[in-house]
Amino acid sequence: MGLSPAQAIAIIVVLSFLLLFLHKILSPWVELPRLPEQWLAFRSGLAWTIFKDRVGFSEDMVLDHESGFAIISSDPGRVCWNALWGRSHNPHQQGRLLLYHYGGSGSLREMELVNFPDNFDFHPLGMGLYREMEDSHPRLFVVNQGDDNSSVEIMDIDYEDARAVHVCTVEDNNHTIRSPVSVSPVSYSSFYVTNDQCLIRRRHPVLSFTERVLGLPLGWVTFVDFSIQARPICTIVAGGIPFASGILVTPTGKEVLVASNSTDTVRIYERNPDTNTLSSNYSSVYMTFHPETLSFDKSLDIDDPTVFNSNGYFLRGVVATGSPDAGRLFCMATNPHGCAAPSVVAEIRRGHGPDLSPFPGSLFNLLSKYYARTLYADDGTNYPSSTSGDMDSKRGRLIVSGVYADGLLDITWDPRENRH
Ligand SMILES: *[C@@H]1O[C@H](CO)[C@@H](O)[C@H](O)[C@H]1NC(C)=O
Ligand SMILES: *[C@@H]1O[C@H](CO)[C@@H](O)[C@H](O)[C@H]1NC(C)=O
Ligand SMILES: *[C@@H]1O[C@H](CO)[C@@H](O)[C@H](O)[C@H]1NC(C)=O
Ligand SMILES: *[C@@H]1O[C@H](CO)[C@@H](O)[C@H](O)[C@H]1NC(C)=O
Repeated sequence: MGLSPAQAIAIIVVLSFLLLFLHKILSPWVELPRLPEQWLAFRSGLAWTIFKDRVGFSEDMVLDHESGFAIISSDPGRVCWNALWGRSHNPHQQGRLLLYHYGGSGSLREMELVNFPDNFDFHPLGMGLYREMEDSHPRLFVVNQGDDNSSVEIMDIDYEDARAVHVCTVEDNNHTIRSPVSVSPVSYSSFYVTNDQCLIRRRHPVLSFTERVLGLPLGWVTFVDFSIQARPICTIVAGGIPFASGILVTPTGKEVLVASNSTDTVRIYERNPDTNTLSSNYSSVYMTFHPETLSFDKSLDIDDPTVFNSNGYFLRGVVATGSPDAGRLFCMATNPHGCAAPSVVAEIRRGHGPDLSPFPGSLFNLLSKYYARTLYADDGTNYPSSTSGDMDSKRGRLIVSGVYADGLLDITWDPRENRH
């Protein structure tokens, strides 16, 4: 009593679908090559860890490509202050901002916080820097996720005296700025901000844990216009993003990229610069690590046809940073010196191309319009737990910060080196 051909075909079809489905849900876990101890994409490159005793718990860092300064956020209370485990010891330890003159003297200074309200609770997460033109003043946007209140703090930066002068606090009574993570400004008075979860711990401790463990797609992006400071206008422009972390508006303003660190993808939305709305559909690039932050190499020329195409869509220059090992990240969160989470920095590009790294930046996907090339990979031995990376290819620099690492990773190379 054999199978009829029709039955056999039906079984094969069902099995194929099952395999496809399994492949789809398992592909993020397919065996990846082992991480090298340290790998650099730059032939003439050198990597140093600097300021080991002076920089720590740095969630984010931004480069000012014009002036050659890096602004680094640091929250020493972070080991005790962890979004998963809840804040425990020492909640009173305040966050700081540091200024590294990477393009000049190489000095590191702590920034003076000026005009901040009394009893200000400062716990910086993501940051974004904005300046209208090359010579106009820089303004810093900092996500401040305290115990009770979440806000985006706006401050004007004075590099000469290492001062951050508070302009205003933007919040909306916990409606659409509820669990902010990263911010990307588009003018002196507007920005996009990601929110990573809906059921925040302070209201629903158990549900929030469930959301985190299941990776439910409940993150969203809010666009905020605070031209009228007392009444900011907040609009949700994208939703359904599992653990929305890093966000980036490209320099042409035509696209917005959002990283989802639980699904290892970076979503690319089209942006309407007139209305600030985002397209309802998006493209994805499938990374080999949990992308935390996104940045753009602003030393690249916006008119260079190898950087942006004629529609203003990026072709290269987006930098994503994160770690492929969530387990070891959590281990470092409880005991920073007890384990070492690996670090990966990769450049996202449009199209398809080779990745020379032994640890590729993205998973091969025929349908994806984008791929990633690894710039730096480290199994945690040299520099662990990278969370943000920003490149200045004109000066031949890639600077990386790791939330549980000691110091900054400073990579230098000869900018005349041909990488293409
Ligand atoms: C939170 O915000 C409220 C209202 O803006 C303010 O009164 C309170 O002091 C803030 N709490 C903290 C801890 O900053
Ligand atoms: C946000 O929610 C928290 C907890 O529910 C509350 O303490 C805080 O005051 C709220 N912030 C504002 C600005 O309303
Ligand atoms: C959205 O869909 C339109 C029409 O199919 C397409 O032209 C566009 O490229 C898509 N946008 C993204 C970001 O994928
Ligand atoms: C993802 O980002 C959230 C903050 O948005 C962070 O608490 C969490 O640890 C990150 N997860 C991983 C695996 O890095």
